[in-house]
Amino acid sequence: MTAAHAPGTGRTAGAARTTVGIVGAGPAGLLLARLLHRAGVDCVVLEARDRAYVEQRQRAGVLEQSTVDVLRDCGAGARLDREALPHAGIELSWNRRRHRIDFPGLTGGRRVWVYAQTEVVKDLIELQLADGAPLLFEATVTAVTGADTERPTIRYTRGGEPYELECDYVVGCDGFHGVTRRAIPDGELRTSERVYPYSWFGILADVAPSNDELVYAHSPRGFALLSMRSHTVSRLYLQVPNGTDPEQWSDERVWDELDARFAVDGGWKLRRGPITQRAVLPMRSSVTEPMRWGRIFLAGDAAHIVPPTGAKGLNLAAADVTVLARAFELLHKDADPAGLDGYSDACLRRVWRAEQFSYFMTTTLHADPEHSEFDTRLQISQLDRIAASPHAAAELAENYVGIAL
Ligand code: FAD
Ligand code: PHB
Repeated sequence: MTAAHAPGTGRTAGAARTTVGIVGAGPAGLLLARLLHRAGVDCVVLEARDRAYVEQRQRAGVLEQSTVDVLRDCGAGARLDREALPHAGIELSWNRRRHRIDFPGLTGGRRVWVYAQTEVVKDLIELQLADGAPLLFEATVTAVTGADTERPTIRYTRGGEPYELECDYVVGCDGFHGVTRRAIPDGELRTSERVYPYSWFGILADVAPSNDELVYAHSPRGFALLSMRSHTVSRLYLQVPNGTDPEQWSDERVWDELDARFAVDGGWKLRRGPITQRAVLPMRSSVTEPMRWGRIFLAGDAAHIVPPTGAKGLNLAAADVTVLARAFELLHKDADPAGLDGYSDACLRRVWRAEQFSYFMTTTLHADPEHSEFDTRLQISQLDRIAASPHAAAELAENYVGIAL
């Protein structure tokens, strides 16, 4: 077996052996590595892409309090504390009206934070390379073998050379298209899923956000979301048909469509600015269970996907690896496997709650091409109910800020 070198750390990964082999350096893999390092558990992270790609991949924007807490606890909270924007509510828009959901008032003081996934990932990578377990970029895992043995092995290629990493445990943090899940024999896992008949067209624009809080808009033309990355950068999304080519839309068409979907009675106006990034993202709900088989564990998007309307994906990934890191710590310190044995059940309760909430937000706010007038009236009735009833609003608010399970 060959030794591999972890770039930037000056350490030799000694690719031959580790306690926990982590596949993927998205938020799940990076946070798990950080938590294990703090707990004194040895690990190695293998990531197929290069550092710049991983740091620039535009995705989530909203962190729950519990995600912020774990980032702070593991030493990754310094920049977050300076730059993240605390948000005490969101607005829902329908029938040319807006209704604010007041999070602290409805949830006993809880709120969320707007801090982009790109920034979470940058903070964790910096820490990891400065003082952490080996993190290898451009290391593509091709297979995980021996899932049912005492020593599962990760096979990967780097710079055209094949390598092997023998592990006590392997954690697949390799996202929806990852390879770790495939190491588990057919028939051992169950996947339940739903694909939606629409996608999100997301843009980044160099313009101050037009509202202080996020706006989720239901409109006859389809859903739209106003979000932000900072006081000077806006993030906006439009519901579009699956297969839409973002390059076919002029900037003017994007802004006109956003204007039409956010339109309310009164003077509110959407600010326009140069669009710096654009992409179309399909929407899916999916859960693979159990999240453990033998010595292989799945975490984050490798095990479950939610449509982004509930802002739950990154938060679920953080919750999974927090549970898993505690379980490895228990094994390491007390030789107690109870945490590892309970991992899947402990996570799946939260996962299914988030699946239900994300499905609810998605189907309440999007215009389904199959919908009749009757279905649309039901959506409006649901939104009216949230505006009229503190109980209905509290149900939404509790789920959005994250339910402690
Ligand atoms: P990923 O981020 O997908 O990371 C997996 C990593 O594994 C990647 O770096 C990949 O390159 C690597 N990998 C894959 N295969 C291999 C291999 N064979 N070998 C080595 N490495 C491999 N969530 C929220 O909580 N709030 C939000 O507001 C929100 N908004 C979103 C908006 C959009 C537009 C999108 C697309 C998603 C959003 N999400 C949101 C979801 C969130 O981004 C994901 O849930 C999150 O990225 C999951 O993290 P992960 O580490 O599990 O997976
Ligand atoms: C984002 O800012 O990218 C974002 C915010 C809220 C969501 C989804 C995405 O529900």
